[in-house]
Formats: sequence, C-alpha cells, structure tokens
Amino acid sequence: MRRLPPVLLEDGCSRELLSLIRTILAACKEISFRVGQGALSGVLGSTLDENIQGETQKKLDVLSNQLLKDILLETGYVKAIASEEEDYTVAGNPDAKFIVAFDPLDGSSNIDINSLVGTIFSIMEAPEGSDANDPSIFMQPGDKQVAAGYVLYGPSTMLALTVGKGTRIFTLDKTHGSFLLTHDFAQIPAKTNEFALNMSNQRHWQPAMQNYVADLLAGEDGPRKENFNMRWIAAMVGDVHRVLTRGGFFSYPADTKDPKKPYKLRLLYEANPMAMLIEQAGGIASTGTERIMSIQPDAIHQRVAVILGSKDEVETCLSYHN
Ligand code: AHG
Ligand code: MN
Ligand code: MN
Ligand code: MN
Repeated sequence: MRRLPPVLLEDGCSRELLSLIRTILAACKEISFRVGQGALSGVLGSTLDENIQGETQKKLDVLSNQLLKDILLETGYVKAIASEEEDYTVAGNPDAKFIVAFDPLDGSSNIDINSLVGTIFSIMEAPEGSDANDPSIFMQPGDKQVAAGYVLYGPSTMLALTVGKGTRIFTLDKTHGSFLLTHDFAQIPAKTNEFALNMSNQRHWQPAMQNYVADLLAGEDGPRKENFNMRWIAAMVGDVHRVLTRGGFFSYPADTKDPKKPYKLRLLYEANPMAMLIEQAGGIASTGTERIMSIQPDAIHQRVAVILGSKDEVETCLSYHN
C-alpha cells in the first residue's frame, strides 16, 4: 500500500504544502492516541469553560486545539490559524504562505460515549503582502482552499484528503504511524436512499425542508415512490465519511429554535472543507440557495445551512427550495 507523501506529490501538491499537511497529521496522530486511551488518558468529560460560540468545551476539545495550535505555530508553515476553540485568529510566521482553519474535535457530544469524533481542516494561501494579525486574511471563499481534509477517530483512524485532484482516503497504520492509501479517488454514487438529519428539529425547519423530508418519510406511498433509511451519527465528520464511502444525503438546515442562531455548522472549518471533499468526489454541497464554496465569508465563526451528498438527491432537495 502507498504512503501519503508520494501520493500527494503525484497530485501536484508542493513540498511546502505537503510539510504543512504532515504537521497537521502529526497532531492528529497524537489526538488519535489520546482518544483511543479514553478514560485511561483522563480526557473524558467537560471543562468549566465555554468557547466564544457559547458551547461548553470538553477536555478533548481544548486538548486537541492545543496540540494543533502548538505544532502549527512551532513549525512555521502557517501565517495564521483560526479554530473553533479560539475566540480570534492567532498569528504565526509572518513570512509563511499558508493559513489553516480547523475544527480540532468535531462531534464533541460523542466523546464520552466512545463514539465517532474527528478533526476537520481547511488550508488556504494568505493574500500577498498581508498581515498575519489581520483576521480578514481568512475572508476568502471555499473555492480558494488549496487542501481540505478530516481525520476520523473511529475503530480505525482514517484521513480523507483533497488537494484539488480528487478525494483520497487513507488509513493510519498504528504499527508504524503512516497513513496508507486504502481507498483511491472516492466517488459518491449519484443516487441514494439514505438521509442524515437531526429529525428532532423538524418542526423548526423552513417549509422547503419540511416538505422535502415529508416526502422522504412517506416512502413508497408518497410522491417519491421509494423508501428511505435514516442515519445520524451526531458528528458531521462521521456522517460525511459515510456519504463519501457509500453515498447519502446529509443536512443541517436552517431552523428557528434560537432566533439568534439560525444555523449550526461553521463555514470556515466545517462546511467549506467538507464541501471541497464532497465536490471532489462528485457530490454537491449547497446552503439550499447557493453553492457553499462560493460564499464570501465575513466572520471567522460564521455559520451556514448545509445540504450535501449524492448529486441526484441533493438536486431533488434543492428543487424544493426553488
Ligand atoms: P462540534 O462538536 O465541533 O461543536 O460540532 C458538532 C456539530 C456537528 O459535528 C454535528 O453534525 C452536529 O453538531 C450535531 O448536532 P446535534 O447535536 O443537533 O445532533
Ligand atoms: Mn463545539
Ligand atoms: Mn464540529
Ligand atoms: Mn469541534
């Protein structure tokens, strides 16, 4: 099986970008080890703190953030970072070319039940001559990503990665610490009968999503004339991994539960990197009204509605929105 570096160089990835990706993966291997040790490494449970978005931070959210932040700032490959668990962007090497936005630990509510969690990252280039302390260097649409990926800490630790030449999937060989290519060029089947949604929010959705899901649930007796199955891992990284592996429809739509917070998922370090992985595997990623990677961000923790996955099913859902 092939190791990650030659595979990425073959995809046209520069040595500089490869070094940055390997730096992120070094932190992820450490996170993978800690997650695997569970209660034995003392990482379960919550802290007494909240992040800037008002979420209680789990010990593993804080630890994963610290590991990624320290290694990224130490190695000097990044000009600045933005993280779910950092209030503001953090400046790095002023002469570096890249900036990284990341969700250090996605699926926090799964930590204490020994279920799927992961790390999501998005890499862009800093604008020429920009200031490392200026947060506006992150205000670039997802189309500007030069690489995007996630590491899933499951029964095995897996990496899905794209540098814009398709989405490749690797598995961590824990005996010698290398990511080996185990699923070349993921291709999401256009058709699916599987959907992933937090159905407890159904009554808070907008009419388009209500109508679309009502027709899914009606199954072969409804207008769709076929049955659909539901899956919800409660970690975007797990749900997107299933979609990349066997196809599917995933959405976290707008809801009216909290008028101050109509969307759940964050554009820079959740929606954009996942959108790039999905599009590079032949799928679609939209908000319902626009392509996710075309959005011009205006804040680092900005949230968006997300509808992604198998092409035909996402298009059907979007037809309810038009
Ligand atoms: P995070 O743990 O990084 O804050 O992200 C959690 C997100 C996402 O991973 C997942 O799809 C969603 O929250 C789960 O939401 P519910 O709690 O509504 O199931
Ligand atoms: Mn969180
Ligand atoms: Mn997340
Ligand atoms: Mn998180």
